[in-house]
Amino acid sequence: MARSSRRLSDWTFSSITVVILLLLASCTVAVKHHDFKRCEQSGFCKRNRELADSMTEKGGPDSSPYHLDSASIKFKDGQLDGSIVKTLHDNEAVKLPLTITFLERGNVRVTIDEEKRKKGEIELRHGSVARKERYNEAGAWALTGAGLQSQKSSSLRKVSKDLSEVTWGPEGRFKATIRHAPFGMEFWSGDEKHVVLNGRGFMNLEHWRPKVDKPVADENATAETAAAPSEDESTWWEESFGGNTDSKPKGPESVAMDITFPGYGHVFGLAEHAGPLSLKQTRGGDGNYDQPYRMYNSDIFEYELDSPMTLYGSIPFLQAHKKDSTVGVFWLNAAETWVDITKSSHGGNPLTLGLSGGVVDTQTHWMSESGLLDVFVMLGPTPQELSKSYGELTGYTQLPASFSLGYHQCRWNYVSDEDVKDVDRKFDKHNIPYDVIWLDIEYTDDKQYFTWDPHTFPDPISMEKQLDETERKLVVIIDPHIKNKGGYTVDEELKSKGLAVKNKENNIFEGWCWPGSSHWIDAFNPAARAWWKTLFTYDRFKGTMNNVWLWNDMNEPSVFNGPEITMPRDNIHYGNWEHRDVHNINGMTFHNATYHALLERKKGEVLRPFILTRSFYAGSQRSSAMWTGDNQANWDHLAVSIPMILNQGVSGYPFAGADVGGFFGNPSKELQTRWYQAGVFYPFMRGHAHIDTRRREPYLLGEPYTGIMAQAIRLRYALFPAWYTAFHEASTDGYPIVRAQYYVHPEDEKGFAIDDQFYLGSTGLLAKPVTTEGAESVDIYLAGSENYYDYFDYTIYTGGSKSHRIHAPLDKIPLLMQGGHIIPRKDRPRKSSGLMRWDPYSLVVVLDSNTQATGSLYVDDGETFDYEQGAFIHRKFVFADGELSSTNLGTKGSKTAQYLKAMKDVTVEKIIVVNAPASWSDVNEVSVTGEGIKGTASAELIYHAAAGDKAAWAVIRNPRTSIGADWTVSLPKTADAKSEL
Ligand code: NOJ
Repeated sequence: MARSSRRLSDWTFSSITVVILLLLASCTVAVKHHDFKRCEQSGFCKRNRELADSMTEKGGPDSSPYHLDSASIKFKDGQLDGSIVKTLHDNEAVKLPLTITFLERGNVRVTIDEEKRKKGEIELRHGSVARKERYNEAGAWALTGAGLQSQKSSSLRKVSKDLSEVTWGPEGRFKATIRHAPFGMEFWSGDEKHVVLNGRGFMNLEHWRPKVDKPVADENATAETAAAPSEDESTWWEESFGGNTDSKPKGPESVAMDITFPGYGHVFGLAEHAGPLSLKQTRGGDGNYDQPYRMYNSDIFEYELDSPMTLYGSIPFLQAHKKDSTVGVFWLNAAETWVDITKSSHGGNPLTLGLSGGVVDTQTHWMSESGLLDVFVMLGPTPQELSKSYGELTGYTQLPASFSLGYHQCRWNYVSDEDVKDVDRKFDKHNIPYDVIWLDIEYTDDKQYFTWDPHTFPDPISMEKQLDETERKLVVIIDPHIKNKGGYTVDEELKSKGLAVKNKENNIFEGWCWPGSSHWIDAFNPAARAWWKTLFTYDRFKGTMNNVWLWNDMNEPSVFNGPEITMPRDNIHYGNWEHRDVHNINGMTFHNATYHALLERKKGEVLRPFILTRSFYAGSQRSSAMWTGDNQANWDHLAVSIPMILNQGVSGYPFAGADVGGFFGNPSKELQTRWYQAGVFYPFMRGHAHIDTRRREPYLLGEPYTGIMAQAIRLRYALFPAWYTAFHEASTDGYPIVRAQYYVHPEDEKGFAIDDQFYLGSTGLLAKPVTTEGAESVDIYLAGSENYYDYFDYTIYTGGSKSHRIHAPLDKIPLLMQGGHIIPRKDRPRKSSGLMRWDPYSLVVVLDSNTQATGSLYVDDGETFDYEQGAFIHRKFVFADGELSSTNLGTKGSKTAQYLKAMKDVTVEKIIVVNAPASWSDVNEVSVTGEGIKGTASAELIYHAAAGDKAAWAVIRNPRTSIGADWTVSLPKTADAKSEL
């Protein structure tokens, strides 16, 4: 119902439309498949799949028409340049310039262009103004420029006339063999082959050719211009879908390649899809999909689960994993992309896919509508190294403003400024912490962004001031469609300055979205981005102050009356690139523009901007958080949110969440409660609901639900230091914030496909939210040899690759701590995270079987960029030999001393030691030494003996050590004994 009702909320629609929409709405409850293409309805996908089938029939790549001209090869400083020749059926040769760059860190970039298009030696049809080249600016948006240096020490060896070999990588560990005819590559580490390009001969670059209008049996067609007899031209020159026709002025131009991972049984990534973390096969068969994973950013209404259908964002990055090795590919292309996945098993039981001694190969087939063939191969060999490599190329998660890790309260819509104030007060009344309240599209005057509805939001500043009293923030929505209305200055400026997306006739494009008739800002245009900045200044966006942040929605872009609910592919963007070429990047250009606008709202005020985006691409992590769009208030959507969010982490974009409670529909109280318990483990936690749903702020449910949800939110706030530290790791190393089983235990094969439990950062905290109705327990899988301990009562669960059943009545979140970790917390409940800034810390030390543990903590002011000048605390905690010590991991900067001074009085108020050795039972005091402590101080230790299945634990009270200082807490030497558990 939602799209209909979303549209209905716009009263400019005629009543006839309304009736039709209502009729349609009443007969649909799920995704409208007919709005979106299947592979066989997408010309290039169909053509490439057919080519794959015919190559498979032929049994290999031998008939692939691509060969690398040996004479063309030049190799210098880690870069190979050459020319691939595509031989057509009449022996005509198409030249495809090839560059292979062997990068530092062990990655390789393979780029293939097309000479004719590159030189502009093609003709466009229909008088199109489109650029003639293949789109070559995806890298300018997605890549940061880092990680692209070639490894100058790489060396090329000619093995034979037809085979070259390049050695590179750390200590020359990697080897790439380049087969000239047909062109193909193999990537080796030591004696093991990990990745193969064009091993199956599916490589395809649809070269430019003029359109020849042939009569049915045209005997005069020259060999030069005719298609091969078997080729189906029906979608080369024009393509229609759902009543829209794409004029395709450049003809067929797809690029495709098969990429095989020999010995790899699992592949992860290819965000965003609603399905399992370990990607499924897509060529049919029992339990498999019959469609490739599709990436074409779309506003999919009521998306279905366990599906390769496209969603709102795309990250064409994939990790292949097998025991102790992870490799990856990043397919840098901004056009519509489909990926087929198949697996073959040899030497074992084919049904067990690798778990019974056999070897599984995973084959993938990548197909994009246009652009360069540009692919990065990454040889890992650990998931962490892949995250780092990928992050180095596309950028790491921005270290967010700390408030954004708090709980966000949203709905479509809070109806007035008084409503917002009231909700704000009620959270306090019920002692539920939250940090941000959100306004959806109804706050605007007639869907004109940068304005407020004068009747319902007459005084936004007083609302913002009330929020500010408790350091809370407001997020308002601003979408990329601008209402087409005379007198609306934003639209007038957009038009007069020529900053909107154009249609194929090169006139301003007009389509429909929330405001009715609209225009779209073309954020590819630097002038449009510069103008966008001017709209956010406090003078211009009246009614906003510095606790107001942004939500960018509908930026796929969603166009209600467009093909597949988006823009026509032949629309024209800045630089005369066709929309088809840039589609998947479009959303990112918009939220990036907003990010930069927010950085410059006021001279001298530099706060870390917070932006939530629905559409995204590789690189979006640098400036925004994302969420999984319009989910539904049912148990399956709750369950799928976990693999989806884990996959965002694998895909280098870990600041991710799903609408808590479900967007469409009304959750039962049990479902909502369980959703909050899961949601407290989303890196981005926001409750959100559709305009047609009942109010469901956590305090409205009544007991026991309200109390249980409040407890869950407080748990998130207590773990704030651990969350922020995990975000810091994401921002420096690219690691996921919540981590999948395979990622943390890459050696444990039984865990590779597990995607309903996860670890929080490096803390050893393992959560398994309850996602089934009426469940009173969950089974949790424990890898590694160490024991795990219930977070709340220290019940012991033995590790060793075993499953355990955990009792989980409604008020219980299954949450364990793995032995060997130290978890930082703040235990004083507050109204918002901002109010916790000066609160003392607790450290939970979970000792392993050797009575040891380690952990870390990152702290900064949470709002400015001063951390870039050293204004932060980064500590390493180690427990060993009966001593807990805190040492500095940070490096000094110009603002370090000042920050440490400000933080001097923030202390550790409590150290809880779980799995405390029995030899501590007689100890009631520990000694404390360190910076700022004169001589040796002492602190009380209270020991709690093990009882039943619960571990012994001890608490050290008030060691009064400063969080930013070096210190050591020591047990009396006699107590330094190994754990007896
Ligand atoms: C679509 C978004 O996905 C949803 O979260 C939002 O409430 C509506 N647009 C209205 O802005």
